[in-house]
Amino acid sequence: MINDVVLPSDMTAYRLTVLPGDGTGKEVAKEAQKILQVFQEYSPLNFDITEIPCGGEYYLETGMEWPEGSFEHCRDNSDAILLGAIGWPDAKLPNGDNAGGSVILGLRSGLDLYANIRPVKLYPGVDHKIHGKYMQVWDSKLVDMVLIRENTEGLYHPLLRRSALAAAGQSPDEPIIIEKFPGLEGEVAWDPRPISRKGSQRVIDFGFTLATRRMEKTGIQQKVTCVDKSNVAKGCRLFRKVFQEVASKYPELETHEAYIDAFTMWLIRSPEDLDVVVLPNMFGDIATDLASVLQGGLGMAASANIGDNHMLFEPVHGSAPKHAGKNIVNPIATISSVQLMFDNLGSRHNDADATLCADLLERAISEHLAEGSIVTYDLGGNASTTEVGTAIADRCTVLLKEAFNN
Ligand code: IPM
Ligand code: MN
Repeated sequence: MINDVVLPSDMTAYRLTVLPGDGTGKEVAKEAQKILQVFQEYSPLNFDITEIPCGGEYYLETGMEWPEGSFEHCRDNSDAILLGAIGWPDAKLPNGDNAGGSVILGLRSGLDLYANIRPVKLYPGVDHKIHGKYMQVWDSKLVDMVLIRENTEGLYHPLLRRSALAAAGQSPDEPIIIEKFPGLEGEVAWDPRPISRKGSQRVIDFGFTLATRRMEKTGIQQKVTCVDKSNVAKGCRLFRKVFQEVASKYPELETHEAYIDAFTMWLIRSPEDLDVVVLPNMFGDIATDLASVLQGGLGMAASANIGDNHMLFEPVHGSAPKHAGKNIVNPIATISSVQLMFDNLGSRHNDADATLCADLLERAISEHLAEGSIVTYDLGGNASTTEVGTAIADRCTVLLKEAFNN
């Protein structure tokens, strides 16, 4: 059972739930906790943190993906959730699904976290893995985009639904029976890919709102790009139709429509043309791993899963079992996910301190990378996970003391 956090009577503490998960997820979550401690100590923000073990390794040990009551804790007692990474070789549920899936997919679906926000930004000092060698001068406009992945339906729908029901302790739906697919013989496995108007509308709205905010903040014209495969798939036709309807309400924004295959080429060839991009679930999953090479790799890619009532933050990378226990992976994707958490707590709770803390953490990360001497192997260095976490935490301490005079 989870011990629910008792909030102080002044209600000033944010209730954070940390789910370290599997393998290197635990190592990067530890560095995120280091950052949280520094902000707890030197900023006006307060946190009540509950850490919950979970994932495939936990399943192999206990026969459960996470302790009983964990989903309810995330739903009822968390202002924000931070996840390390989930997934462990050979940890499978009896139905063949990956053990630990109910944790991440159950939360995405069960808490209706419909917008998966994946910023792709190249910091000064980081090699752009595609064009880096040819870049003479670092250009801030080269890579600065946000990919927004629909997070509750599409090709993931059946698994999301199973995971949400499992997480909430409910029994699975009746299976959809199709006797055979005309034209196919022998054993056939198939996955439906439902895309709804409501699911498309809310995530596309999110994209246009974000683009408007980026335009107000930077003064730079923004473009929203719709990525789909509407020349082939009916769900994608609906997604694009809804995109066009929403776009007509935002005449001040530029829009662009692309098929996913061509988009992957443009993403790599001309990343400077992209600002905000909306994609159906599976295309977003694939495109964001690809896009991470524009920002230094998966070790740099952070994400926010946002719904109307809940939010969860996590690095885009997985648990990397082959690197587990070596203290070598890059914790910056997770630390940047904490940055997104501060930013979203700030906007959701109208909390200027949280927004300032988000800006300070971003500055600490940016200055750390620009200085460039303490980085992990993926960025060309040989520092450990712990050393990077500590160096960024120390930088935060200095910035926070300056900002808040303590
Ligand atoms: C991600 C991951 C997950 C996904 C896996 C672990 C189920 O790849 O967050 O991108 O496919 O969504
Ligand atoms: Mn993925």
